[in-house]
Formats: sequence, structure tokens, C-alpha cells
Amino acid sequence: MSEQDPALEAQEPGKQRAHLDTLAIRAGGLRTPFLEHSEALFPTVSFVHESAEMAARRFAGEEPGYIYSRFTNPTVDMFEQRLAALEGGEAAIATATGMAAISALAMAVCKTGDHIVTSGSVFGSTLNVFGPQVMGKFGVDTTVVQGTSLDAWRAAITPRTRLVFLETPSNPTAEVFDIAAIAEMTRSVGALFAVDNCFCTPILQRPLELGADCVIHSASKHLDGQGRVMGGAIVGSRALCKETVYNFLRTTGASMAPFNAWVILKGLETLPIRMRAHSENALALATWLAEQPKVARVNYSFLPSHAAHALARRQQSGGGAVLSFEVKGDRAAAWRVIDATRTMSITGNLGDVKTTITHPASTTHSRMTPEARARAGIHDTLIRVAVGLEAQEDLREDLARGLDLI
Ligand SMILES: Cc1ncc(COP(=O)(O)O)c(C=O)c1O
Repeated sequence: MSEQDPALEAQEPGKQRAHLDTLAIRAGGLRTPFLEHSEALFPTVSFVHESAEMAARRFAGEEPGYIYSRFTNPTVDMFEQRLAALEGGEAAIATATGMAAISALAMAVCKTGDHIVTSGSVFGSTLNVFGPQVMGKFGVDTTVVQGTSLDAWRAAITPRTRLVFLETPSNPTAEVFDIAAIAEMTRSVGALFAVDNCFCTPILQRPLELGADCVIHSASKHLDGQGRVMGGAIVGSRALCKETVYNFLRTTGASMAPFNAWVILKGLETLPIRMRAHSENALALATWLAEQPKVARVNYSFLPSHAAHALARRQQSGGGAVLSFEVKGDRAAAWRVIDATRTMSITGNLGDVKTTITHPASTTHSRMTPEARARAGIHDTLIRVAVGLEAQEDLREDLARGLDLI
């Protein structure tokens, strides 16, 4: 296999980095002796050694080479290298799903007696992993911070804290967290700061440049971008990805399948163009929604009316695909708007070229107590839209139909 595409030379130390649009297409291109143009898919469980001696050397780590696809695989390597280049990290490690990335990080980094700090508005399954169901069983306790107040984060982070984890902008209410400030607090106690960058992707937000130690992805979202395959990844230092997490993952087994890596790798090629188009469509829809008399409130970080708009503009280059809004009325009114759509898909997923619409209080956030939902601003009248790439007029018409009924 040849090492990498010439475009990547721009990544060598001292040379100027290639543009993100170029890295998305060219980084991590390993070419076989057949000189294929499109990246090769290696659907193989194991790799052959030329001799018993070579096998022994490879198993001992004395010679590079592939052994078994639970450990490493060339297609998965290409995906990891491309994502690492986009996030500006030294390395990446791919996982079977986004949740596999989050649980592998927590398990690999924390030990009994350690402490995690996270936000009350991270993805529900993430809260479950950090809570009594998983990490709590191993003697790791978690403080959940509600809201974005830096004082609350400062109070929660202690010398025992090993991992600080958040998502920004949050789902579904688009709270924006100050990555640089929380990175500083985390550094002061020597903990690891991880940002789930699913909603923005490296095209709109680069947490490592703002001081985070690692970035988490559910590759099932925008990285694939068409809702086809599951995947996840961690990006950060070589020691974190290729030693700490790799040693955990190669044994426990939630590695990424080569086919999924290939689909997502090809998805990355259109990520820059898609993320800009998602953001443009979402901002147009959010602006229109904010003008509608039946809409009480719109949550979207790139709307000038958003409470943290200035911070969002500083750390993001676009608002991303996800917005939420509250209708005037009750849950029945929100459901009427959802049921009246013809173009949008009623489904909980996001990060797809197809627009999706959901009622968080009765679906994705239904397991929270009503009090916790109220604290998080997830009211019965709230609707979340993950804006896809259909024509703006069709999306407006789809929501206008339902708004006219309430
Ligand atoms: C922000 C965020 N992080 C992580 C995940 C988990 O990803 P996966 O479903 O790939 O395990 C999700 C899934 O919806 C998510 O929205």
C-alpha cells in the first residue's frame, strides 16, 4: 500500500495545512498496487503472513502489518486518518457506534474512585453510560451540570475529576457551551476534556483548536450523512487513541466494520459542502419560523435572538442542521404540526440529507422525569427539526400546513 495521497504533504510539520475541503476528499488515502482511484474496501476478518516468523514479529508488534480486523483494517485506517486530519487531531480511533466511542472512552480513561462531570443536556444514552447503570457500577461517580453557567461548571470540576464531557450546541434546545473556558478549568485539575461534535462536525466547529483534548463522533449522523450505517470515533492525541482506547477496544471488541468505514469515508468527501448547505437551510427555516404567529419560540444558535449567539459565532462557522421550536398551545398542537408534514420524516435520527422531525418530550426525551424535562426546556409544545437538504420552500410549506391547523 502506498502511504498517502500527495495532497496530504501539506500536513507535514512546518507546512501550511491543506484546506478542509481538500482534506475531506484526499486525507487518509491508502492506495494498493492496483492504483485504484476510489478508496478500496477490505472486507476481510484476518490478514495472511508470509511466514511463521513474520506472524510472530507482527503479533509481537516488532513489525507493522495487519493481523485481524478487530484490531486494525486498511479501510478503517483510511477513515481514521481522514477524520483526524479534519478535526486537527494527531490520531483517531473508529468504533462500532457513537455510544461505543463514548463508553470506550469512559471505560478506558476512568478507574474506580474517579469522577466524571457532564452536562444535563447530553444525549440520553450518554447520561446512562456515565450514571449508575454503567460507570456507577464500577465505582465511578458523575456530576451532572444543568445549564451553561461557567460558575456551575467550575464548582463541579474537582481534583478527583478524570473526564469532563459535553455536547455543544445541545440537543434539542441548542444551548451553547464555552469550550475554551471549560477546557481551561479541566486542564487546571489534569482531567481529560471531551466534546461530542456530532451536531457541528469539524466543518463548523473544531473543539481541539479551542482547547478540548478529544472529540467524539456518532458517525451514524453527519459523517455518513445519509442515514445508512452505524459508526463512531474518538479523535485526539496518538497516546489516547492508539494506546489507551485502542488497548481497551481491541480486547472488548466494539470496533468499526470495514464496510461501515468505507461508506462513512466516502461520506466525508461531501461533508464540507453538506454542512454548509444544512446550515444555510436551517438558518432560513429558523428565521421564517421566528416570524410565524403560531410559534412561541425558536432555538437555533445562529439566530441573532439566541442568548449565546455571540459565543456561537466565535466558536462555530455555522449553526448546523438542528433547530427546535415551540408552538403556541399544547402537546396536541405540536403533534398536529408533525402529523401534517409530507416531506419531512417523523423519526428520531438526525444528520441526514432527509429532513427529520420529532417531538422530543414523547420520544427521545420521554424517559426523563417531567421535572427534569421542564428544567431542560423540553416542553410538550417543543418540536425538533433536523434540517436536510431539500428545497427551503418545500420545508416551509411542510410546516406551514400544520401551523395553519392550530
Ligand atoms: C449527540 C449524539 N451523540 C452520540 C449519539 C450516539 O450515537 P450512536 O447512535 O451512533 O450510538 C447520538 C445519537 O443519536 C447523538 O445524537
